[in-house]
Amino acid sequence: MKSLKTLMDLNGRVALITGGAGHLGAAMCESLAELGASLVIVDIMESSCNQLSQALKETYQIDVLPLVMDLSDEQALLDLPKKVLSQFGKLDILVNNAALVGSNDLKGWAVPFDQQSADTWRLALEVNLTVPFILVQAFADALRTSKHGSVINIGSIYGVVGPDPALYEGTNMGNPSAYAASKGGLIQFTRWLATSLAPDIRVNAISPGGVWRNQPDSFTQKYIEKTPLKRMTTEEDIKGAVAYLASDLSAYVTGQHLLLDGGWTSW
Ligand SMILES: NC(=O)c1ccc[n+]([C@@H]2O[C@H](COP(=O)([O-])OP(=O)(O)OC[C@H]3O[C@@H](n4cnc5c(N)ncnc54)[C@H](O)[C@@H]3O)[C@@H](O)[C@H]2O)c1
Repeated sequence: MKSLKTLMDLNGRVALITGGAGHLGAAMCESLAELGASLVIVDIMESSCNQLSQALKETYQIDVLPLVMDLSDEQALLDLPKKVLSQFGKLDILVNNAALVGSNDLKGWAVPFDQQSADTWRLALEVNLTVPFILVQAFADALRTSKHGSVINIGSIYGVVGPDPALYEGTNMGNPSAYAASKGGLIQFTRWLATSLAPDIRVNAISPGGVWRNQPDSFTQKYIEKTPLKRMTTEEDIKGAVAYLASDLSAYVTGQHLLLDGGWTSW
């Protein structure tokens, strides 16, 4: 029987993380780098993407390819697989993490429903849901050839339950409807992919709860009150979940949706 250390070893595997330079994305990159994977970090934020790539390369002595691009740019998206495969010749792990998130400062986004715009809804559906569709399709052959192909889609508690408006009272925070719709779609797309791409590629989703980022006190206190584990999510919480689903630790797991939410959705 293989040891746990062998099962979680990602040496020789290549992982692509969209939105890899973001808060949770960087923790995912760190987790996969720590286990020995080579990384492709895709993000629109140029300096954080390059800095993170350099830091991980030096710390973990791994190959890292930073790809600075806008995933909503169709041509750039179509060119992405070529760039990855010409550098590494393979892809074993795909993490669809990039998203328009609730804190994005976009017109018609985190505002009351009657002010939410159809244009921003379309952009959110594009980045949060259509981009994962295009990437999984584009990399399916490579993931199949890998024999360890694993796709991880990053959902959200708001792809599962509706927001509690009381949490947001007295703050300028909002909860966009397109965010919920896109994440709900991504979670269900995960199940569709899992059965359609089996037995060659495993496909699972992780849905974090609200991550603590200096939200107003009233929000944080109410949020914690509603969470059985009595705290908000941290970036570190994602590391183990990604390590598990990316590696052979979860070789018999597909079509699952792991709620990383301190019990928020368990009441
Ligand atoms: N923060 C939370 O409370 C929370 C809760 C549940 C789920 N999530 C999910 O976790 C994931 C990561 O969120 P985060 O909190 O780290 O947010 P974040 O904004 O820090 O990270 C998202 C990353 O995606 C990148 N990105 C967005 N649009 C892009 C585009 N068009 N092209 C290229 N890159 C693009 C951003 O530059 C950013 O680095 C998201 O899928 C989010 O929905 C977050």
